[in-house]
Amino acid sequence: MFIKKSKSDFNIKKINNYYLSGSDSLSGSIKVPGDKSISQRALIISLISTGKTIIEDILDSEDVYHTMQAVTQLGAMLRVHNNYIEVKGVGLGNLVTPKKPIYMGNSGTGTRLLLGLVAGSNALVTFYGDSSLTERPMDRVLLPLKEMGARIMCDDSNKLPITIMGARAKGFTLPIDYKLSIPSAQIKSAILLAALTARGTSFVTEYKKSRNYTEKMLSERGVILKNKKINKSKNIISINGTSFIKPRNIKVPGDPSSAAFLAVAATITKKSSITIENVLHDKFRLGVFNILKKMGASINIVRLEKNTCKIIVKSSKLKNFNIESSNSSALIDEYPILSIAAACSEGIMVMKGLGELRYKESDRFKAIVEGLEKCGVDVKSLKDNIIIKGRKKIKGGCTIDAKNDHRIAMSFNILSLITEEPIFVRGNKSILTSFPGFFKTLQELGVISLTHEKKNI
Ligand code: S3P
Repeated sequence: MFIKKSKSDFNIKKINNYYLSGSDSLSGSIKVPGDKSISQRALIISLISTGKTIIEDILDSEDVYHTMQAVTQLGAMLRVHNNYIEVKGVGLGNLVTPKKPIYMGNSGTGTRLLLGLVAGSNALVTFYGDSSLTERPMDRVLLPLKEMGARIMCDDSNKLPITIMGARAKGFTLPIDYKLSIPSAQIKSAILLAALTARGTSFVTEYKKSRNYTEKMLSERGVILKNKKINKSKNIISINGTSFIKPRNIKVPGDPSSAAFLAVAATITKKSSITIENVLHDKFRLGVFNILKKMGASINIVRLEKNTCKIIVKSSKLKNFNIESSNSSALIDEYPILSIAAACSEGIMVMKGLGELRYKESDRFKAIVEGLEKCGVDVKSLKDNIIIKGRKKIKGGCTIDAKNDHRIAMSFNILSLITEEPIFVRGNKSILTSFPGFFKTLQELGVISLTHEKKNI
């Protein structure tokens, strides 16, 4: 669609006009597309590998497409086949200075990781993005990267567009000892990628776990990287500078965050029973399913070969409980869809420690509170907490502006499956960044109320 065929094959006007209504039941078995975090890292790490990498089942979405374009501009040679792509890397330290600025679309992960990679190189690169990405904070990565010797040119907001000159253009990449005040896999990864070319060992201390695919992939490609667990939450990562990254083929498993939308859809609709196949089995990323289970959802996770699982979900009556802030890093991408589940459950849910939601593709904290309120749900916010009182009947009958945020768009479309009147989402196009087949998959699961002629409300 984006990667495999020409972009023009996709009818953007049509997806923008889709909406769901009526309480259809979902049944059947489907696969979710490749994990976004792993797909982006596979491309970025293949770029600096010496030799050829084959990436199977990469996510075919806009965000990945932009990262793919970016690694090509930085020197990688890409060949796209039916269900795999071949990436011929330039090797560490050989990034090319692109002729033109690099457009990253909506992709925060792609941008922050590539800023890190370029920081440790001798290239000079300008990154820019769409209106949502341009509003997102970048100082969180720029600060440590400057400390490592990168030169940064941007305006006082420290947001895109940003021009970065790698530390090796006029000197060396300096090792760093950095304490992560924000639990973020993107910041951690940016530092680790820059540290690859440092002379010596760098350290990153995290106080809350975050996804660790960069660490895993680098270790598997010969980088000396160690984890020193101090206690349940504190971990010190050490990484040695190197000069060589071994190529290694990769098969991308399905994205648990995309699976979560389908799981909530099956849970809140009547007489549903679905199986989501080929999902990445990573305890950290499966946290959302454990929360749903604790709420009373009928969810069975069956571990399959290697790092995948299938998830069997049936309609269930849910009960709310409080989600503590210690979960916030693991559930960071799932709060929008969890808030939909909470709105349809019995009792009150307090979701605590959601401050970081304000800095996602949109201000998700505001989007959840204002969106649910508009749909007729009792919802309040208090400092960084959101309090939702679930109800049996939810009115709907409103328009929600997704503000370029795929997870907000998908969440309110799912809520529309059970509201008395349909919810119209403005900006479904954003769904193309992570799950282009979202509506098609729902149709495959038996949702027949997909419509694309919006009424005037
Ligand atoms: C991601 C990390 C998370 C997550 C994002 C993907 C990654 O962001 O929200 O969707 O692939 O590293 P933060 O690092 O800002 O928490």
